[in-house]
Amino acid sequence: MRLDKFICKSTQLTRVEAVARIQGGDVIVNGDVVVVERTQVHEDNHIIFNGQRLQARAFRYLLVHKPVDTICSNIDEAYPSLFSGLGIANTSELHVAGRLDADTTGLVLVTDDGRWSFDIIRPSLACEKVYRVNLSQDINDDATARLKSGVQLQGEARLTLPAKLEIVGPKEVLLTIIEGKYHQVKRMFAAVGNRVIGLHRERVGAVTLDIEEGQWRYLTADEVNAFISKANSTDE
Ligand code: URA
Repeated sequence: MRLDKFICKSTQLTRVEAVARIQGGDVIVNGDVVVVERTQVHEDNHIIFNGQRLQARAFRYLLVHKPVDTICSNIDEAYPSLFSGLGIANTSELHVAGRLDADTTGLVLVTDDGRWSFDIIRPSLACEKVYRVNLSQDINDDATARLKSGVQLQGEARLTLPAKLEIVGPKEVLLTIIEGKYHQVKRMFAAVGNRVIGLHRERVGAVTLDIEEGQWRYLTADEVNAFISKANSTDE
């Protein structure tokens, strides 16, 4: 990672402060003063600041049960940010692994580990996302078959990848997809002439939502590693 990012991650300094201290010659990397903030460093490097060796904080991995009318952005906009309700330090470093719309509720994975979240998001790793979908009209056999095999979304070059669909009731289904295109679920049902009136994410990969709306918890090591092992085995 970049040296300025490392300094931010291992101290209370802002990015601007970290850059100023690096350019001022206050940071030593593996015995040499480094004044270029873009310099790439690794956690194993010996990085001294203010006479002390810095250790990057460990990555954080959270499961958040997103309430309705919150947004998956780091700053409050038309709705409050999901992050402002967490009550933990340095939320500006965090990001979501797969956004939900403001009116969608349910499971959001939050982290500051960009590599980990990338593996969850990219379709080639086939990480399943399960949504409970409430519809304005009854679901019919034709729509079910089309959703399962792949539908054409407006503005997309290719059909959606095959999905799983379980009928819960005439207007309620569980949809499992491995992609995460913009407004994907709403657009999939629009493509078959229906409309989503309620959307809730229940599961991502091995992680199932098990906390109340508005609450969060850290992921267990097994949950974190479940995504990592999947990535490694698929890359082989
Ligand atoms: N698909 C949508 O349309 N909205 C979401 O929030 C998530 C998936």
